[in-house]
Formats: sequence, structure tokens, C-alpha cells
Amino acid sequence: MTRVLRADVLVVGSGIAGLTAALRVARTCRVVLVTKGAIDDSATAKAQGGIAGALAPEDSPAQHAADTHVAGAGLCLEDAVRVLCEEGPDRIRELIDLGVVFDRVEGDAEDPDLPYAMGLEGAHSRPRILHAGGDATGRSIEDALVGSVRRAPIEVLERTALVDLLVTEPRSALPGPGAARVSDTPGVPAGTPCPAARDEEYQSANCGERGHERAPRVVGAAFLGADGAPLEVRADGVVLATGGAGQLYSHTTNPEVATGDGVAAAWRAGACVADLEFVQFHPTALTGSAFLVSEAVRGEGAVLRDAEGRRFMPDIDPRAELAPRDVVARAIAHVMAAQDGRPALLDATDIGRAELARRFPTIDAAVRSAGLDWASQPIPVTPAAHYAMGGIRTDLDGRTSLPGLFAAGECACTGVHGANRLASNSLLEGAVFGARAGEIAAVEAAGSAAGSGAESHEVPAAAFAALAAVPAAGPAWTRRDLQELMWEHVGLLRTGDQLAHAARVLDGWAAPTPSTVAAIEDRNLLHLARLTVAAARARATSAGAHHRLDDPSAPEALPAPALEPHTAPAAR
Ligand code: SIN
Repeated sequence: MTRVLRADVLVVGSGIAGLTAALRVARTCRVVLVTKGAIDDSATAKAQGGIAGALAPEDSPAQHAADTHVAGAGLCLEDAVRVLCEEGPDRIRELIDLGVVFDRVEGDAEDPDLPYAMGLEGAHSRPRILHAGGDATGRSIEDALVGSVRRAPIEVLERTALVDLLVTEPRSALPGPGAARVSDTPGVPAGTPCPAARDEEYQSANCGERGHERAPRVVGAAFLGADGAPLEVRADGVVLATGGAGQLYSHTTNPEVATGDGVAAAWRAGACVADLEFVQFHPTALTGSAFLVSEAVRGEGAVLRDAEGRRFMPDIDPRAELAPRDVVARAIAHVMAAQDGRPALLDATDIGRAELARRFPTIDAAVRSAGLDWASQPIPVTPAAHYAMGGIRTDLDGRTSLPGLFAAGECACTGVHGANRLASNSLLEGAVFGARAGEIAAVEAAGSAAGSGAESHEVPAAAFAALAAVPAAGPAWTRRDLQELMWEHVGLLRTGDQLAHAARVLDGWAAPTPSTVAAIEDRNLLHLARLTVAAARARATSAGAHHRLDDPSAPEALPAPALEPHTAPAAR
């Protein structure tokens, strides 16, 4: 027996985008917030560096936007970047009003007369990163937002996993994974290029023919409840804010919950997805654990060295250690390849023991618990999967190509990051576009002909068919197999042959029946892996974080790396 809840708007996910969206909706509408883990189990809570914003008197949104475009390799969408950089400062002030205490220069963080301390990170032309608790910015923001959500009239369901979206049409004839999609926006004729498309190659990777006679509408979602029983939440609007998919890779800075659930579910429901080939690898994860060592450490003066102690970044890019993230990550891969896979070294010794402990208390504790003394010795670092620039294509208000479905934060693709996200723009994106998506979802829910709770929508009777479906036969695979395949063949550097191999392997694997949380996640990871490979195969040229070694015009000619950066693979 399926339990059914009703809301005006359903929000899925509890990072900065989901919590912000839910708070906006709650001003006018009934909202249910559903999250897969505990409410504060999110990538937001792990964010270290901070939140970028043009708040300093000598800074400007235009300068922030210009830096965002440069980091994005020229593929950012102009309007999205403008909205991000112009509205960002107001969203940051709202976080301060909610209780986030950003660090101030030289003194008491709570002294309102002191200016905010602004950190510097890669590809920013000036310091503009606000941070809290040194390197605990995400935790401070998450705690403030969770506190506000707890005080608001918001029903919160934790440990409840998204299975699929409920749509008004059965999706029996969905194209197979990796197949193309086209915008289903009402009034747009079938076959019209998805707004995501910037060029034909891009469109063929992510969009295509659907041929629906009428557009489906998203009217809720099916979940596996905390008690293991099916649950349905019906709503006039659904906001997906499910975060990223770092768990596609064997080495990632992401939390375990980052399994791409929202993107995969939206794609299964027929939404347009975009930019999936652009996966950001953070240059400096601690070797062995993939614990993030913030770019802000380089912003404070740390430098990168090879195994012999030679500093290498100034020879590769004039911006040296503060070049865009994709450039630094590739440089490290290059150095590692030249030294038989040994990691690069991050030398923070000039910063000094006391300052390292004061400015980076979280990293300091993690480094010391790994048995390293970074005040006196360089520490081994390696790139790790960090952020998905692509996701569910949205407009500037979080609307997706499916009526009733909105997306915000890392699971969305507003086009704001282009081919490579500017450091510390992700929390900002969650705040800006989470607010916009929440507001519009509430307005559209209030104006919905269906009225509150979507009772009048026709929902397929077999909404939970997927739970009982028998997977097609295929070779057995584990999540670890998928993660290693993606790391080795769809990683920081790719070739057409590697991508073709990955596609063949992934096509042979059957998606599991989504009857447990682990199986739900594995099904999503498999679908997303196939989509990522399809998108990467379709883009034959390099751009930003998508670096094709077989593209002769690629900005840096780097040999294929022998990346063996972390601990030995787990036993199967
Ligand atoms: C970092 O602190 O280096 C990561 C911040 C980000 O991903 O923008």
C-alpha cells in the first residue's frame, strides 16, 4: 500500500539550493522537502573555500561575470552569468541575515565594523570569496539554512530516496539511455532544438527527437521511504535540488549521497539534460582519501611541486597555481604521468603553522589525522572528481523542459558555469537559482488549474512499476566497477577510443531493480554514466574540463596520464 502525501510544491534535496527553494516556497505555499540522507548530509556542508560575491567596494558584478566567463572557457550563457553575479550579493546578505557569520579581517568575526575577509581562488581577478569559520563555510551556511527550515512551516522527510518522477503520461516508449531528447516546453513544436543547444554537436549529444503528441506534466515523485515502504508525494510543482554525481568516479571529493539521482530521474521522465561532458576535477584532493584541500590554500600562497620539489605551474600558465581549475588539474596529471603516477606536492609551509591552523582548521585536522605535518612538509595531492557543470537544462527561473518540473543547484544546468566552473561560484549558484526556482514554482503552483495537491492530474497507475521491474540480463557489475571504468576512460583526459570502450561496457550492463537505496543509486549512476559518455563522445573537440587527447587543437598537448593516485581499489 503506497502512502500518498500532498503538497503545493515538492522540493527534493537539502543542500543550499533545496533549502533556499523550500524557504521561498513556504512563504506562500505548502511545501514538502524530501532528502535522501539526514537533512544536513550534502555537498554544501562540505564546502570549504567559500562563496564568491562582488561585495567589496572596489569589486563589481561585471568583473565577477568576466572572470566567470574566462574560467568557463567562453561557453557560459551570458544572461545566466549576469543574474548570478548581480543577484549574488543580495543572496549573500540574506544568508548573513539568517545567521551565517562570515569571517572579517583581523579580529572578531562578529564585529560589524570590520570589513569581511575576502579570499582569493583560481581564475578570480581579485579576492572576493567570503568564508566562515576559516574553511567551514559550507557547514555554517547549511546549519543556518537548516535552522530556518526547521522553524518554517515545511514538512521535512529525511532518509527518503527519490525513485522516479510522476508524470501525466506513461513513459513506455522512452528511448534507451544515451539517446537524445528535445525540449518538451508547451507551445514549442516537436523537433525544435532544445534551448540548451549551442551548436549541432552539443544538441545531438543532449537533445533530439521525442515526437510526443502532447507534453507530459510532472505532478510529483515516487520515493522509497525511510521505513522501506513506497511513498508518493503529489504536487503541482517539483523542484529538484539533488546535487551532483561525483560518485560516478572512484576518486571524488563528493559525499556518498552524490549519485546524480535528480538528473537521472528527470532524464527518465523526458527532461532535457545538457553539458554532461563537463565534469570538473578538483586539482588538490589529499592522496589516499580524496579529502578536499581547498583552492583557498593556494590563494593564501601555497605552491605545487613535482616529486623532486620543483615548482611547475609558472611554466604552464602565467596565472600559475591560480589558473582555472581545469588547467591546474591537467598540469598535475601531466606531472604525475612524467613521474610514474606519483602524486604532486602541495607546499603550504610558507603559510606557517599558526596561520594554517587558524585559517584552515578543517583541513588542518584532516591532514594531521592522515599523519602529515603540512606546516613543515609538502603534502601529496591528486585530482579528484568534484563538480558537474552539466545537468537538467533550465531557464533563468529554474524551469526545465517539462512543465511542473524545476531544478536548481548542481543538478541543474543554467549554463552559468560553461565548460568549467569558477571557484566558489557553486554555493552562490545554489542561493541565487534556488531562490528563483522556489519563487517561480510557488507562483506556478498557486496558479495551477489543478489547484493544491495535484489531485486532478492523471497519474499513471504503474507509477511504481520500476520498483518491481525485472532488469534485463547482462553481466554482473558493481558500483566500484562503474566508478573505475569512469575514472580510467571518462576522466580528466579522454580519447575517442576510451569513450567508445566505456560506452560498450556500460551498454552491456543492466540497470538494477530500484528496490533498495543502493539499487536506486546504482541505476541512476548507470544511466548518468551512459549519458556522460554519450555527451563526451559527441564533443570531439576540447573545451574547459572536457579535454580530448585526440583533439589536435587542444590548448595543451599532454600525454595520457598514468593516474594511480589513491589507495588500491577496494576488494570486490
Ligand atoms: C575549494 O574550496 O577549493 C572548493 C570550492 C569550490 O568547489 O568552489
